[in-house]
Amino acid sequence: MKPPTLIETERLLLRVPRLEDAPAVFEGWARHPEVTRFLTWRPHTSVAQSEELLRKSIEAWNGDAKFRYLMEIKAGGELAGMIELRLEVEAFKVSFGYTGARAQWGKGYMTEAARALIDWSFQQPGIYRVYATADVENIPSQRVLEKAGMQREGLLRREAMHPNSSPEPRDCYMYAIVR
Ligand SMILES: CC(C)(COP(=O)(O)OP(=O)(O)OC[C@H]1O[C@@H](n2cnc3c(N)ncnc32)[C@H](O)[C@@H]1OP(=O)(O)O)[C@@H](O)C(=O)NCCC(=O)NCCS
Repeated sequence: MKPPTLIETERLLLRVPRLEDAPAVFEGWARHPEVTRFLTWRPHTSVAQSEELLRKSIEAWNGDAKFRYLMEIKAGGELAGMIELRLEVEAFKVSFGYTGARAQWGKGYMTEAARALIDWSFQQPGIYRVYATADVENIPSQRVLEKAGMQREGLLRREAMHPNSSPEPRDCYMYAIVR
């Protein structure tokens, strides 16, 4: 089972990344400290780093676990961010993670993309659970997950390293939607 290479929503095209997207990814979000505050990676310092991320993302589409989409705004073609669907080892569940372009925050784009991945997942007969985690201080991300219809299930203590926030592992909330 593989997710489609193109998913259309009201305002977005979720599509497979291309290497040529590197400058837009770098400028749009990868270089910004405020974007990476609750992420596992450091801000990029060169376009080459963003290109490497895209190369790995493109390669991963040949595998069976990680499927990263760039979110292209239909009106104008700018990028609103990226969202990655992860098929877990146990095939009845999937998870996802995302990063939004700094200039596009607060316009509902990430909620729209998250809903699209949840919709696709529940169209697959074998998938019963979609989940995501967010740092306890990452309020915008928690809002995205709530607006996408997910419920906060609990606190995962010392769950993730977010090196831009702290040298120690951080507490995260677990959000999920099931059927
Ligand atoms: C999390 C993120 C992807 C949200 O993207 P987005 O496209 O702005 O999401 P939406 O517009 O759908 O919703 C954002 C919500 O957060 C709210 N919000 C934004 N900034 C906020 C703040 N500083 N404090 C509280 N709420 C905030 C918005 O008001 C909105 O909620 P509302 O619709 O109830 O008003 C974006 O903030 C981001 O890229 N953050 C950095 C990367 C990241 O943390 N990724 C997630 C890792 S788990």
